[in-house]
Amino acid sequence: MDLVDRASAAYVEEYGGPPHRVAQAPGRVELLGNHTDYNGGLVLSAGIDRHTVVAAGPRTDRLACLFSLDLAARDQFHVDHQASFDAAWTRYPRGVVWALRERFGPLRSGFNAVILGDVPQGAGLSSSASLEAALAWACLGLGLIDLPINDSTRMDLARTLQRAENVYVGVACGLLDQFSTLFAAADSALMLDCANGHWERLPLVDDQGLAPAIVVCDSRTSRRLADGMYNRRRTECETVLDHYRQLRGNSLRWLRDLRLEDLERDWLALDPVGRRRARHVLTENQRVEAGRDALQRADLKTFGRLMSESHESSRLDFENSSEGLDRLIEAAREAPGFLGGKLSGAGWAGCTVNLVQAAAAADFASAVRDGVLRRGGPEPRLYVCRPAPGAGILEPR
Ligand code: GLA
Repeated sequence: MDLVDRASAAYVEEYGGPPHRVAQAPGRVELLGNHTDYNGGLVLSAGIDRHTVVAAGPRTDRLACLFSLDLAARDQFHVDHQASFDAAWTRYPRGVVWALRERFGPLRSGFNAVILGDVPQGAGLSSSASLEAALAWACLGLGLIDLPINDSTRMDLARTLQRAENVYVGVACGLLDQFSTLFAAADSALMLDCANGHWERLPLVDDQGLAPAIVVCDSRTSRRLADGMYNRRRTECETVLDHYRQLRGNSLRWLRDLRLEDLERDWLALDPVGRRRARHVLTENQRVEAGRDALQRADLKTFGRLMSESHESSRLDFENSSEGLDRLIEAAREAPGFLGGKLSGAGWAGCTVNLVQAAAAADFASAVRDGVLRRGGPEPRLYVCRPAPGAGILEPR
């Protein structure tokens, strides 16, 4: 049974009738533009064919009743006030309802929902953003909030879900994750300018029109460390921005507005840690621009090389890689079909993302597994994915 069938069957069992709507939203990989989003920079990402699915139906009262099939756990809260929470997983759905209400007004009614998914959790593939988007989309599909679906309301929704995560859940993420899960398209990459919200879809195909495989390699290391380090990196980036604001005034909005030449010229006057963090952000921005040109030419070789350069910049300048992630990249470099690879998302743990010639994907995955074991690492989890469409409503079955 696929996810949709399982969600629908569980819904019938839990609530005694079929769901009215089934929504799904994909996980995402960050292809280029690491830690650029909160610096007002450029990001290139793609949705992957791993999803969170929400089967939902309206209620006659104002309760939200949730059943997580993966966790075999239930939660229930009032759609007009859901301030406190106990279990960690319920922060996300509660945050979504909170943010939807704050932005678009009270929900028309309560709802029942079954949630399940196959986006690996805690691996840096945005399982939480895909849960947020699938639930929000289910609420839209049920008509609980009145929002026409077009690209400008989609962006509004992405920012609303980002707010759920920033304010309600308390995770200081940028817009990348929510944007990607809402805007992704089949065989496409997404480019977002985080300073002004401009975005575009780019074909993620080679010169024969074939989409590459996106092979995600999970280092299986805990991401607990990542949360504290993520915030620290944000502060380190701000030290450089503050330095230039003192010189140029507060109109300097983003780190991204600096030029690499500024950093090079002022290198010795800058904070020794902050300047390397800033160099990563600025060179990443350049790589995204070069990556867009490469995708427009269907030049996946160049695109892959830029991804590998991004990993090096993470490793040396941003210092958000780890032994486990570096080992995965080393093993990938020797594997067949490899076009390029880098860590994906926050870093320090979680996954690498690799662009691989589709026909070689299975051989690539087994070569990476062997390569990591040979280097004494733990057996990685490997996911061969395709660039997949963004959040949407499916026909309930
Ligand atoms: C995490 C955050 C994103 C982004 C990446 C790094 O995935 O949630 O907003 O900052 O790290 O690029």
